[in-house]
Amino acid sequence: MALSDDFLQELRSRADIESTISSYVNLKRAGRISKGLCPFHGEKTPSFTVYPDTQSYYCFGCGNGGDVITFIKNIENLDYIDAVRFLADKAGMNMPDDNSYDNTSNKRRLRMLEANREAARFFHSCLGTKEGAVGYRYFKNRGLTDETIRNFGLGFAPDSFNALTNHMMKKGFTKEELVSANLARRSTKNESHIYDNFRNRVIFPIIDVKGNVIAFGGRVLDDSKPKYLNTSDTLVYKKSHGLYALNFAKKSGKDALILCEGYMDVIAMHQAGFNNAVAALGTALTSEQAQLLSRYASEIMIAYDSDGPGQVALSRALGIFKKTAAKVKVLRWSEGKDLDEVIKNYGVEKVKSIIHGAANEIEFALLHEKENYDVTTDDGKRRYLYEVAKILSNVGEIELEIYASRIAEELSFSKNVIISEAKKHMKKESAIRQKKEFTEVQRTGDILDKLNPQRQKFFKAAKAEEMLIAIVMANPTFLKQVEKKISSVDFVTDFNGRIFKAVSDRLREGLSAEISFLHGQLTEDELSAVAKIQTVSYTLKNTMEECNDCINVIISEKNKKIITDTNVESISDDDFLKFFNNN
Ligand code: CTP
Ligand code: MN
Repeated sequence: MALSDDFLQELRSRADIESTISSYVNLKRAGRISKGLCPFHGEKTPSFTVYPDTQSYYCFGCGNGGDVITFIKNIENLDYIDAVRFLADKAGMNMPDDNSYDNTSNKRRLRMLEANREAARFFHSCLGTKEGAVGYRYFKNRGLTDETIRNFGLGFAPDSFNALTNHMMKKGFTKEELVSANLARRSTKNESHIYDNFRNRVIFPIIDVKGNVIAFGGRVLDDSKPKYLNTSDTLVYKKSHGLYALNFAKKSGKDALILCEGYMDVIAMHQAGFNNAVAALGTALTSEQAQLLSRYASEIMIAYDSDGPGQVALSRALGIFKKTAAKVKVLRWSEGKDLDEVIKNYGVEKVKSIIHGAANEIEFALLHEKENYDVTTDDGKRRYLYEVAKILSNVGEIELEIYASRIAEELSFSKNVIISEAKKHMKKESAIRQKKEFTEVQRTGDILDKLNPQRQKFFKAAKAEEMLIAIVMANPTFLKQVEKKISSVDFVTDFNGRIFKAVSDRLREGLSAEISFLHGQLTEDELSAVAKIQTVSYTLKNTMEECNDCINVIISEKNKKIITDTNVESISDDDFLKFFNNN
């Protein structure tokens, strides 16, 4: 890895792990460590732990761990060098001039982004041509202003098999580049022939938060199918992570985002002044998109279509947001299918009042449930109240009081009974949840067991090895004395031996062996394992005596292992005779 130690050292001190992570995760300090809800898997009790002393983190729930670079890699979905660049930018540091770290995959990504940008420019310019006038008229008919068309970089793909392809090839892009960017497809009859992917469609470029054009959506001009054609996953685009207009919405300065269903809803909302509208691409919201949204705003207002599919998508989305830190509200209306139609037919004020009247998740669930029962009958009321107790089992004391009072009044029923029923549910729920989270941890297993296949068999030795590594990492000055008694080849488990070697090789040279300096030598999983190993040092005294105890255990376990390994297996008389006769 071409990044110098000096650079990494500087980055490590400027990009403190605790403050970096706290802009993504709500961390609570407890002594020398901080804890929060893991952003990489759904959980209700915090097992995500940050260790400022070692500048590392580890989640005991899902086994994700590493240093601040690993964290950024995972949460921003970047490769190593881009994660470093991301942190350096934030810390006001320049990347080293040496470009040797720019590997080929990064070059290919940059080239693809260039291609997308050029294609977006081309599509946009087509709106002003004779063949493209139909696209321009389409947007105008849907009420978009020239300014909106320009802001969103909207465009038109001509009704031709080679309009874009010809343009791009003139600009120096190769067929291979166009196909891998999904701007063109290869002909099945003649592999060397390519043709435009988007034809006779209005174009919506998808732009990421850094301003890169990462993909396109293309809509037909009439009612033909498929209505939308989207770029499939490429080197620079993952549909399951993508969000439309987040680049604008994040600049809105608002702490809430409005999550719409479609491109046109978002654009109409922005044009109407609601510049915090975004859309998940395609109807099924993914947990990655939900996590991403919850990082940009503390409140998400879901504004899905009022039709059947929209409402199904809504209840799915509510489930997905439960696993994030975001508060969720639901926008409801009966005037038209989507917000685009509401704006067009009823105006901006209507949307304002819809936002104002947004139900929070609890209110929404209560309203939704009430529609299922006839509360004018005793039986309907009883069954509704049972559901109410279930819903209210998820809320805090104060909210419970408020909603219970409200419903008690509404149905002329005892508030205290509602509260005590809800509390009964609460107990049951939390027992189920704890059990579920526990089994989840069990299923994921310990990262060390996963990476070190000898760990269970030589458990005692492995534990001692891990402790020794942890202590030496935390106390580099111990290495000299430790190495007088033991070296990596004496380790019982190969995996721990390898980690010890990677660490001690650097320390011996007087170099730092913290995780940030091991990215070149170890894989991502191995770095998680090191982060896990390091967590042990927080429970130890970190003395040379402890080191000696560990060393003694390792050596005596090693001797036992040698004896078992060299034990000749007894062979049967028959086998022996066969062997004897053959020689
Ligand atoms: N979508 C898609 N592919 C389709 C249909 C829909 O990717 N074949 C996505 C698009 O992002 C679309 C969103 O799902 O914007 C919502 O779909 P729909 O409600 O059908 O479209 P609208 O956005 O309302 O489009 P329009 O108003 O132009 O009809
Ligand atoms: Mn629509």
